[in-house]
Amino acid sequence: MPSVTKDSAEARVPPAGCRALAHSNIALAKYWGKRDIERNLPDVPSLSLTLAALSTTTLVRFDPDARADEVTLNGAPAEEGAAAKIRTLLDRVRREAGLAWHAQVITGNDFPTASGLASSASGFAALALAALGAAGLSWPSPAVSALARASSVSAARSIFGGFVALEAGAAQAEPVAIDTTALRMVIAVTQTAPKKVGSTQGMLRTQDTSPYYEAWRSAAPRIYSELRGALARGDLERVGEAMEQSTLCMHATMLAAAPAISYFSPQTIAAMDCVRDLRAAGTFAYFTMDAGPHVKVLTLADRAERVRRELETVPGVHRVLVSAAGAGARIVEEP
Ligand code: PMV
Repeated sequence: MPSVTKDSAEARVPPAGCRALAHSNIALAKYWGKRDIERNLPDVPSLSLTLAALSTTTLVRFDPDARADEVTLNGAPAEEGAAAKIRTLLDRVRREAGLAWHAQVITGNDFPTASGLASSASGFAALALAALGAAGLSWPSPAVSALARASSVSAARSIFGGFVALEAGAAQAEPVAIDTTALRMVIAVTQTAPKKVGSTQGMLRTQDTSPYYEAWRSAAPRIYSELRGALARGDLERVGEAMEQSTLCMHATMLAAAPAISYFSPQTIAAMDCVRDLRAAGTFAYFTMDAGPHVKVLTLADRAERVRRELETVPGVHRVLVSAAGAGARIVEEP
């Protein structure tokens, strides 16, 4: 961090700080693996849908009198791991702005904190936008996306609304202009597994030890292209098939790591079976899972209630959320 503060930088800083909101996103074509660990660049392309129902709101305020950065997460002081990642992003913004002041960061999710859905995607997207605004910087969305990506690759995608793509090795995500109004994502929150491997640790272990990593690395771009092409043609069945293949390939690759990485719980398997049964009975529904036991289901607006009802009958499914596509990250006024 620079030790001297530029006058022009101080003059730009809004004393009330800046508040930003970002939605979470779920990848249909998954990212798993880092091309460049230092720069945090993805090894495979991914394509996601931003979700209206899950969001993080973050206030950042640079304060000339603060003695240290202070981070409050969902009403409590952030634990050191999360606080350190947040400070790294703040340091990047301070360097860009020529600012030496510490910051107060207050961040919260609008979805149940204990649900295990808390995603770094909405968190770092909201933080990137709020920190830039609080430092008096106004960057174009691709640059905000690159700043968020340096902290969390999936956060790069939450800067944009609707469908969003992030190419392999790319610094920033880009929006994919395809209508999302007919689609819904139904999220089955299952029992949280007792122990969770963080995504960075999980990826590095997969890259280092899974004999299937090279197979994943060559399959993922093909699945991504297939999915993106099917989306452009409006072939939703093919989109769903590619989406399921993407998540199953990703999980198969990590199951083969040493020691194995398994995010599935018995409820995950039961929810996947429920989706297959729905499909066999003629309902458009396809699943995907991330670095946790929850199951996310792509369906149509007029099928979402049926999918929700069926998932609610799966033993071990705690609650089911239905989400439409969401907009990109934005600066918001006082709540
Ligand atoms: O960028 P991270 O650390 O949130 O990793 C995201 C990894 C997955 O959620 C499993 C896949 C993805 O593309 O979002």
